[in-house]
Amino acid sequence: IASRTTTKEWISEGRVKVNGRVIRNPDHWVETGKDVVHLDGRKLRTEKKIYLALNKPTGVVTSHGDRDGRPTVYDYLDKLNQWVFPVGRLDMDTSGLLILTNDTEFGDRLLSPESKIPKTYYVKVAGLVQPAEYRQLEQGVDIGEDEVTGPAQVHEVRRSEKYTWFELTITEGRNRQVRRMCKAIGHPVLKLVRTRIGGYELGKIAVGNYVKLAGPDIARLLESP
Ligand code: URA
Repeated sequence: IASRTTTKEWISEGRVKVNGRVIRNPDHWVETGKDVVHLDGRKLRTEKKIYLALNKPTGVVTSHGDRDGRPTVYDYLDKLNQWVFPVGRLDMDTSGLLILTNDTEFGDRLLSPESKIPKTYYVKVAGLVQPAEYRQLEQGVDIGEDEVTGPAQVHEVRRSEKYTWFELTITEGRNRQVRRMCKAIGHPVLKLVRTRIGGYELGKIAVGNYVKLAGPDIARLLESP
């Protein structure tokens, strides 16, 4: 029903009881289905797990509430009456596939570097990318701050006189990674859309809309295509 930070506050305020006793330790172990938990005297039950795929528009931040009053991804979930959190982040200027769920274990798995889940981005950059520059993206690029990216896959989609469009698949999730990789090879990103996570494609979800995912699609997120 709320984030970890908020629930820790509730617990320290003495609003939460487990089996009739107020607990103030947020690490207190609870067996769901066995222990009885109350918040402000109301009995809680475990929520059904829910998984959403949102096509995040640009200009929207991936956080809950924004100090500067910018729109957040939660503005696009107004008909949902369950708490969910975004799995990882997309920059404000990036659009495309964002997963939201209340399943923290699943979220951790999707984000964990060990899982090496591929994420594919459709990228438009300034200038014409040369073969040697693609090789750099594929083999690993020094993106500054002592960070070198791991192997990536690149597939050119088209080029005009001034721009190149390509798909880039990475298995890491460094901060602003795609933008930093493209800048490092001398081609600033002009447009960035995440189109796939694991084996799940954004497909035809309209910008600003979301769909609820069922079994096979949830499994697809954890696959390598
Ligand atoms: N890489 C970026 O640079 N930005 C994103 O939003 C996601 C990946």
